[in-house]
Amino acid sequence: MTAKTALVVVAHHRADSLTARIGDVVAARLKEAGYAIDLLNLQAEGFDPRMTVADQPDWDDRDKAYSPEVQSHMDRITAADLIVPVFPVYWNAPPALLKGWIDRVWNYGFSYGRSKPRLAGRRMLWIGTAGAAEGDEYWASLQNILDLTLRDGISYYNGIAEAAVEVLPDAEGEPQIVDGTGNFTKGEALTGEQRTAHYRALEQRAIERVEKFLA
Ligand SMILES: Cc1cc2nc3c(=O)[nH]c(=O)nc-3n(C[C@H](O)[C@H](O)[C@H](O)COP(=O)(O)O)c2cc1C
Repeated sequence: MTAKTALVVVAHHRADSLTARIGDVVAARLKEAGYAIDLLNLQAEGFDPRMTVADQPDWDDRDKAYSPEVQSHMDRITAADLIVPVFPVYWNAPPALLKGWIDRVWNYGFSYGRSKPRLAGRRMLWIGTAGAAEGDEYWASLQNILDLTLRDGISYYNGIAEAAVEVLPDAEGEPQIVDGTGNFTKGEALTGEQRTAHYRALEQRAIERVEKFLA
């Protein structure tokens, strides 16, 4: 039996980011679970998130030939059984790097716009890191927004019924709270062993989210 493939998509501009670290941890856990890993680091591979004329949909031609770059990304998605984007939450949304990958690659005639969705049967786990503190007022609405835009708006629209969004909170290791009148307060930043333990717990949490999704 051939191994299933997981496409882990890391969307961050820094190689030493928490996001990149979570991407590695998630890939390692999936490998342990028997998946062949295709690690797509959008920044390292030089992916340009800006839409181009070559890659914008032609609503009269769902068989349009998109650019070779986008076609190669489509091939990687097609080859995957499981797709796991890992990204920092920016303004209640994925960062431009990941958004542009969706805009350009998850295109008309490829992933949507067919009577039989080509990506049906695949699974998708979105893993975001967020500065928000778990349990504060904003936390529940952030989860709802991301569920709506990523799970329903993107995965489901592209024929992937089995999808989930997991958000890791407190990603900056220091509480940041904006109150109802827009006042911004910053708590004390974690340091030393406390900081190490905090980030180790986030990694552990990412692993648990993967295990929950695979179960
Ligand atoms: C432009 C920008 C927008 C952000 N917007 C949000 C936000 O809407 N909600 C939130 O909880 N955190 C937000 N953050 C905090 C990031 O999610 C956080 O810095 C990131 O997850 C940390 O992971 P990293 O070290 O991999 O970048 C934002 C950060 C930046 C730079």
